Amino acid sequence: MTLRLDYTNFMGDVVSGGIAAADWRDATTAFARAHAGFQRRRAANELGFLDLPNDSALHRQSTDFAARTRGQFDDVVVLGIGGSALGPIALRTALLKPQWNALSKDERGGWPRLHVLDNVDPRTIAALLDRLDLTRALFIVISKSGGTAETMAQYLVVRARLQSAVKHDVGRHLVFVTDPEKGALRTIARSENIPALDIPPNVGGRYSVLTPVGILPAALTGMDTTALLAGAADIAKRCDTESLGRNPAGTFAMLQFLADTKLGRHIHVLMPYSDPLRDIADWFVQLWAESLGKHRSAGDPGIGPTPLAALGATDQHSKVQLFMEGPPDKTVSFISVDEEPVKLEIPKLHSDVKELGYLGGHRLGELLDIERRATAGALARRGRPNLTIHVDAPDAQHLGTLMMFLEIATIYAGELYGINPLDQPGVELGKQFTYAMLGRADAEQARREWNMLPKPDARFTI
Ligand code: PA5
Repeated sequence: MTLRLDYTNFMGDVVSGGIAAADWRDATTAFARAHAGFQRRRAANELGFLDLPNDSALHRQSTDFAARTRGQFDDVVVLGIGGSALGPIALRTALLKPQWNALSKDERGGWPRLHVLDNVDPRTIAALLDRLDLTRALFIVISKSGGTAETMAQYLVVRARLQSAVKHDVGRHLVFVTDPEKGALRTIARSENIPALDIPPNVGGRYSVLTPVGILPAALTGMDTTALLAGAADIAKRCDTESLGRNPAGTFAMLQFLADTKLGRHIHVLMPYSDPLRDIADWFVQLWAESLGKHRSAGDPGIGPTPLAALGATDQHSKVQLFMEGPPDKTVSFISVDEEPVKLEIPKLHSDVKELGYLGGHRLGELLDIERRATAGALARRGRPNLTIHVDAPDAQHLGTLMMFLEIATIYAGELYGINPLDQPGVELGKQFTYAMLGRADAEQARREWNMLPKPDARFTI
């Protein structure tokens, strides 16, 4: 089994602030309804991410491109934002060796470095472009819509630099990942014969990590994409049941939903005790926030839990004080990696010094695991519900499992909250105001609205 969910410390039988037995009994029926809603969405072809593990033609788009270009590039740079960047970042942190971009080509097994530009801060972009040998660089421009302002701006900057550096060879240094039919990137790809890989129309940005959004950078840098997809397929199959007790993603979603709506625990912390998995927590934050923070209807004040990322053991010296003694408005979900990848023993030095002596002879991996168990136990003791997602290793198969597990859980949570977890209408107005200020031709209405808004007032500015 590639994933095990232990929610003992979430339950009222065990933890004073946990889910009451009666609520958990009632949850069975509520979950069967949520599962039926999930199945309706699936039948309506809305949940394209579930089909990705078995879409070998789509998988081949990435592996063929990677095989065709093998050895041509020393640097691969992803341009993208939100769901088009957080997946590749999480995969890079988990599946490439630590300090990958600082390793020599030999140490990287000949695979290229991997950079992800997920913002438009000119300092970061200029610093990277100034440093790269553009004649040996490949830029993957990722945008489902093919028109996101930040990504398009990055593309324009990169394209002008490439034109100076490689003249007419620009097309060899670009590959697009976008909708198969729609959007500006697809149009440019067609007219200039730039390779373009597909994000299926029924897969939205934050559910797209197993499309070429994540799979292309993974294949180009030598990650095991077959294992990633196999891990995802495995958990999708396991979660294909309306029986709450046998459905790990359903159980995770239901626990968090009940904690939010019955116990006032609106903040959901994801805390891996594993450096390779640290960025999966950021990826989850976007998935949970953008999918579940919604108006149920016009005039509704808005619902949805607030996700928060943390890292063990590091954040035991930062956020854990708040989790232990701050407002009782949080749940904590730990991720535990159960196999020790590296057995690094703590040397038996200073054995006569009380603060050091007891550490000698233990292993660092053992210490990390003991700290996780200690934190979980201490939270339980304080009546703070927490659970642990166990995986054996932070490898490709388990990562595929973990990501698919969290995606499925998000759809179930959407059903439980009664909202659409697949859209993000709340980010639209800010985008329109940006277009208005930048003078985009079709933003006339937004420009009028923007001009009517109050401007900074001297009375309230110091
Ligand atoms: O999850 C989402 O849909 C968003 O976060 C998008 O990924 C993000 O806005 C970028 O959009 P696009 O891929 O269209 O450039």
